Amino acid sequence: MGKISRALVTGGTGFIGSHLVDELAAIGCRVTVLDNLSTGHRHNIDHLGDRIDFVEGDIRDDGLLNRVVKGCDVVFHQAAVVSVSQSVQDPSHSCEVNDLGTVRVLDASRRNGVRRVVMASSSAVYGDDPRMPKTEDMAPKPLSPYAVQKLAGEFYASVFAGLYGLETVCLRYFNVFGPRQDPSSPYSGVISIFMKKATAGEAPTIYGDGLQSRDFIYVKDVVRANLLAATEAAAAGGVFNVGTGEIIRILDLWKMIGGLSKVQIDPLFDPPRAGDIRESVSDIGRIRQALGFRPQMALRQGLVNTLAWYRNPA
Ligand code: NAD
Ligand code: UD1
Repeated sequence: MGKISRALVTGGTGFIGSHLVDELAAIGCRVTVLDNLSTGHRHNIDHLGDRIDFVEGDIRDDGLLNRVVKGCDVVFHQAAVVSVSQSVQDPSHSCEVNDLGTVRVLDASRRNGVRRVVMASSSAVYGDDPRMPKTEDMAPKPLSPYAVQKLAGEFYASVFAGLYGLETVCLRYFNVFGPRQDPSSPYSGVISIFMKKATAGEAPTIYGDGLQSRDFIYVKDVVRANLLAATEAAAAGGVFNVGTGEIIRILDLWKMIGGLSKVQIDPLFDPPRAGDIRESVSDIGRIRQALGFRPQMALRQGLVNTLAWYRNPA
């Protein structure tokens, strides 16, 4: 498929979306961002000036979607209610955005001649299958409304491909981290919260015993996976894990961040969160073989870069 001339990035003022927009603009692609600024920020894309088009609006708004996808060859669908625990608190709202919103994005794409939609799915779909690492052929076992919604998005993508010939690719991101991840809510990603606490010299709260594991991937690596998904012929119709294959426990993560920040503070402990996955690590054999994807950033160096950004956001 090759070059991307014009793309829509839903959720493009958010953490992952804004890094994707940076890269697309850098390779000379004309980008439109559609975002309702619910968790994203204008300042994440302000530096791009008029090299991109920003449209403030909701992915559930059909008329608006039809307007912004016109002329795009690729849609990168990043917009979502991203917090697992928020979906447990308010399953209806996250369903509206994550499911109805996704169907609207797919529908507007196929009606307006978009060639390919790359969708942000999640490792949350695996739930608590005890087998490690997670491979894409394992039966999903969602534990939260968020996981069900992401899985439904994958099924919709496959059905739109079959019914309408729309090319779709679903990327199951594991836990993504890096500069611009917003730490401001209790629903934020754990690394962003731990960075904020370490920088302020405060104790974090760990939910459960801290021995739950995650596979953290640096945001720039996730952006590269998106570009491969958009441009490689072999990606069409695929579902791919996007992780590193490396495992870390949440307690060790805090120790590592404490060490890098030169603070030694014992964490506080609260009960585990409902819907939380215990063990999570990716097998990335499929995306490596099909698309040649290899993560480039080691966790430690990624944390150093991220900490530098939290100390001095640029
Ligand atoms: P984020 O909250 O920074 O980005 C989401 C963006 O979507 C925000 O800019 C928000 O304003 C926008 N948005 C939300 N609802 C919208 C709506 N109704 N209409 C228009 N825009 C809307 O989160 P992120 O971490 O950048 O997540 C991006 C995508 O990656 C999401 O689909 C998320 O589910 C997925 N994902 C993230 C991770 C992770 O670890 N961060 C892991 C797996 C999957
Ligand atoms: C995250 C993403 C989700 C994505 C999934 C993929 C966010 C907000 N969520 O969910 O979109 O689909 O990865 O795997 O980016 N924790 C603490 N203390 C804290 C915060 C969290 O102990 O202050 C624990 C949580 O209970 C959990 C782990 O850290 O066990 C990770 O939590 P979180 O960063 O919210 O990520 P996920 O729930 O894995």
